[in-house]
Amino acid sequence: METVLSGIRSTGHLHLGNYFGALRNYIKMQNEYNCFFFIADLHSLTTHPHPDDFHSGVRTILAEYLASGLDPEKSAIFVQSDIPEISELYVLLNMISYKGELERTASFKDKVRQNPDNVNAGLLTYPVLMAADILIHRANKVPVGKDQEQHLEIARVLARRFNSMYGSEVFPEPQAFNFGSDLIKVPGLDGSGKMGKSEGNGIYLFDDEKVIHKKVMKAVTDSGPTEPNSPMAESVQNLFTLLSIVSDTATVQQFKDAYNDCTIRYGDLKKQLATDICKHTLPIREKIESIYHDDVYLSKVIKRGTELARESARATMKEVRSAVGFRSFLVNVND
Ligand code: TYM
Repeated sequence: METVLSGIRSTGHLHLGNYFGALRNYIKMQNEYNCFFFIADLHSLTTHPHPDDFHSGVRTILAEYLASGLDPEKSAIFVQSDIPEISELYVLLNMISYKGELERTASFKDKVRQNPDNVNAGLLTYPVLMAADILIHRANKVPVGKDQEQHLEIARVLARRFNSMYGSEVFPEPQAFNFGSDLIKVPGLDGSGKMGKSEGNGIYLFDDEKVIHKKVMKAVTDSGPTEPNSPMAESVQNLFTLLSIVSDTATVQQFKDAYNDCTIRYGDLKKQLATDICKHTLPIREKIESIYHDDVYLSKVIKRGTELARESARATMKEVRSAVGFRSFLVNVND
C-alpha cells in the first residue's frame, strides 16, 4: 500500500488556503492509503515564536485539523518534535544538500526579502527538513498546495541523490498530489497573491459568520466591466477562483455571465461568496472549541500517532544508518 503524508506549520489558525489547498485532498485519501499527518513545530522555530506561546500554537492547529475531518483512527497524527529520527535524517540530508541549490529556492528568496534581519540557517535548510519529514516515512504521495511544489522537487532530488550516493533504494521519490489535477493556489482577498498566514489576507476556519462576511465584503475589486466580455482584473479573478472552490458550477456560471454582459454587482457576488464559504467552515468552527480543550482526547490521538510514526521512522533510519556506513561499537558491550 502506498504511503501518504502531509503536514502544516504550527503557526496561527487554519485558513481556506490550507483547507482547500491541501487538507481536503489529504482527508479524501485517508481510506485508501497508509496515512501520516503531522504538525511541523520545528519548522515554526525559524520565526522564533515565544516559548510561552509555542505549545498553544501546536494545540490550535491540531484541534482545527481534527475538527476539519482528520481521522485519528485512519491516520497517524503526530507532532514533528516528538519524532527525533526526523532531526537525525535532517542532519544526514544536510550533508548532501548544497548551498547554491537551497539559495535558489523561491520561498527562501521571499523570506530573505520579507525578513532581511532573520536569515537564519534553518530558513535556508527549510526544504531539507521538509524532505526529512517526507522521506522518513518513505511517502509516495504528498497532498500540498502549489506553493510547496518546489519543496517537493527538492525532496525528490535528495531522495535520488541519497540512493545513488549510497548505492541504496531506501527512498522512493515523493510526488505532490492532487488527484491528477494541477496543485492549487487559493488567492487572498487583497487583490493579488495567495492566501497566507503572514499576509493578513486570510479567512480562517475559526472566523465566525459575521467576520467572514465583513472580510469578504472588504475584498479588493475594480470599478466593474464597462464592455461585454472585457478582461478581468486579478482581484476580480481571485474572487471568481474562490467562488469556484466553494460554490456550485451553476452559481459560478451565473456570475460569470453577469460579468460578461456587464450586469454584475460585486456586492451580490461577495454576499454569495461569503454565504458559501460559511457553509463549509461553520460546521468545522463549531467543533474546534470542544476539541481544543479536550486534553484526554488530544493526548490519546497523539499517543497513537506518535507510536506509529516512530515505528515507521525507526525502520527507515535503520536502513539509512546502515547505507551511510554507521556501525556501532555498542552492540558488543554486555553489562
Ligand atoms: P503551510 O503550513 O504553509 O501550509 C500547509 C499546507 O497548506 C497549503 N497552503 C495552500 N494551498 C493553496 N493555496 C494557499 N493559499 C495555501 N496556503 C497554504 C500548503 O501548500 C501546505 O500544503 N512547509 C509546509 C509544512 C510542511 C510539510 C512538510 C508539508 C513541513 N513539512 C512535509 C508537507 C510535507 C508549510 O509551511 O505549509
